[in-house]
Amino acid sequence: MRSIDKEDKQFVWHPYTQMKEWMQSNNNKVIVKGEGFYLIDSDGNRYLDGIASMWCNVWGHGQNEVANAMIEQIKNLQHSTLFGLANEPSVNLAEKLLKISKGMDRVFYSDNGSTAIEVALKMALQYYANIGKPEKNRFISIENGYHGDTVATMSVGYIEKYFGAYKPLLTPVFRAPSPLFKNIKLKNEKDDKNTSLDFVNSCIEKTEIILKKYSKKCCALVMESGAQIAGGVIIYPDDYQKRIAELCQKYDVLLILDEIATGFGRLGNMVEYIAQNSIPDIVCFGKALTAGYFPLAVTLTTNKIFESFLGEYSENKQFYHGHTFTGNPIGCATAIANIEEYKRKNLINQIRENSKHISNRLKELETCSIIENIRHKGLLTGIELEKKGKSIEVLKDSQRLNYFIMRESLKMGVFLRSLGNILMFIPSLAISRQELDKIIDVQFKLIEMIETKV
Ligand SMILES: Cc1ncc(COP(=O)(O)O)c(C=O)c1O
Repeated sequence: MRSIDKEDKQFVWHPYTQMKEWMQSNNNKVIVKGEGFYLIDSDGNRYLDGIASMWCNVWGHGQNEVANAMIEQIKNLQHSTLFGLANEPSVNLAEKLLKISKGMDRVFYSDNGSTAIEVALKMALQYYANIGKPEKNRFISIENGYHGDTVATMSVGYIEKYFGAYKPLLTPVFRAPSPLFKNIKLKNEKDDKNTSLDFVNSCIEKTEIILKKYSKKCCALVMESGAQIAGGVIIYPDDYQKRIAELCQKYDVLLILDEIATGFGRLGNMVEYIAQNSIPDIVCFGKALTAGYFPLAVTLTTNKIFESFLGEYSENKQFYHGHTFTGNPIGCATAIANIEEYKRKNLINQIRENSKHISNRLKELETCSIIENIRHKGLLTGIELEKKGKSIEVLKDSQRLNYFIMRESLKMGVFLRSLGNILMFIPSLAISRQELDKIIDVQFKLIEMIETKV
């Protein structure tokens, strides 16, 4: 075994990992280099990254304009605080972000998606305190939502299996139904549209009941924008998000949209809430914001919210949030170069073309016996496996599906992970057609193999 693997097992604690299994495994890979859309391990094996390094990578790896901008910034100013000082990259990035984010007026910086959501939750809570309605201090979220692993984000994106142990830290939250609409088996397009509309109506009615009952106690409804990913690749039906935004307005509850995983092109739109016709009060971006090259996230909000924090020092209305690296200039310079590249390379157009290609290729699975449902939008795809109405999570030989996927995909030169019984591919946003096809081929091959193992 390679020495670095031995030391990894000895010193490093991996996220969401049963470390007993990890430490016993002979199959752990140590990544030493990235080249284009490939990751290269310490034995020189190359893997196409089918999950974009946890859904954040945009341009692949290696020398490119974004990396060059980082190098330039590192030479000039590595870090300077936003506590009491300003810095140029953070100002320029804020201006750029506000240009593309319709309805937003201010940018608050943090260093990861969970924290950007924590910031949003604190802003919403304090907004109502600032305007004399401190009783509006509870949150509404959507079932199957995921917003991160910090304390408040675990509360709004509660998943019993993951967060049960931390319950004593969490705050109770009202939950509206998730818009999981399975339409793949409907043949007739007209029926499909009507059924989808009925489904949305029922989701909205149930959400309105919650708002009617609890809105006086609630400051905000928080939800992912466009799709829930970690909760099962749940793509919102038409109009759902728009109607939630209307409900929030009607019941005086702020709308917090989480675009950390879905913004910046993942669903085929630079800013998903614009495509969904739903202007939020607060929106968060992260992950692809820096092309996946630097830990930076942002929370954007409106003048209405921002101005409620203005007052005399003695009124104590200011926003008590900040981190050592808030507004870090390397992160901001990275995001600026990244946004410029999106425009220069017309990346959103390329994503949309690749998305059409994925739709076409998914038709190849039509006759597969173990597929319960396929959900796809932009460069996000989830394929749900079932046999005789039972979710497939363990294979005949007792192997867990997620281990099988990871191990076998690596053997075929692609890195893929699954989510319970849902196979996912979430490639780097600028992936080439040829490389995308390789990921799809491997995913389909895995499905064929699984069919013989259940
Ligand atoms: C929708 C959503 N929100 C928030 C987060 C948390 O972001 P981070 O992992 O950067 O804390 C994630 C991470 O996957 C996410 O998918």
